Amino acid sequence: MDKKDIQSVLISESEIKEIVKGLATKINKVYSGEQLLVVCILKGACIFFSDLIRELDLDIKLDFMVISSYGNSTKTSNNVNIIHDLKEDIKGKNVLIVEDIIDSGRTIKSLKELLEKREPKSLRVAAMLDKPDRREVDINGEYIGKVIPDEFVVGYGLDYSQKYRNLKEICVLAKSVYLN
Ligand code: IMP
Ligand code: MG
Repeated sequence: MDKKDIQSVLISESEIKEIVKGLATKINKVYSGEQLLVVCILKGACIFFSDLIRELDLDIKLDFMVISSYGNSTKTSNNVNIIHDLKEDIKGKNVLIVEDIIDSGRTIKSLKELLEKREPKSLRVAAMLDKPDRREVDINGEYIGKVIPDEFVVGYGLDYSQKYRNLKEICVLAKSVYLN
């Protein structure tokens, strides 16, 4: 990776750790004594999910969904496209969707609508990041790691054109990478 691709570090590794621990504390309280199915939205949430579940002191099971949204662009598309569906039947279960970021909100709104039809006992969203300035639909996550400004970020699972997911910090991508 070219260092010039990164404009700045927005959230450091140590801050990420604190954020994840804070979220886990809340989630542990809310679901105390209950079973929980934690759903990782691939690929972007993979690292956040791995860190979060290890801080959960609960009776959990894991499941995974692959959905597509952006393609190679930094602008949102309208509908969520399910590429790989859950293996678990979620009827009557507590389900926590784990997402990397809520941007326009379209992905999480469509996903929630789709999963609500399967009649879970509860359905909530944990997202590492939230960009409320970009919201186009009325949706919010229950557990938000950090609200960030309207900047395109990469690292800690988040990509641009499938790159930069392995960066340890959450970084603002240099505009030169995507503006020609
Ligand atoms: P939404 O449907 O517009 O809320 O988009 C959500 C999805 O877009 C996320 O799961 C990410 O994959 C992607 N996304 C939105 N903003 C960013 C960003 O700043 N960096 C990387 N991916 C992003
Ligand atoms: Mg993505």
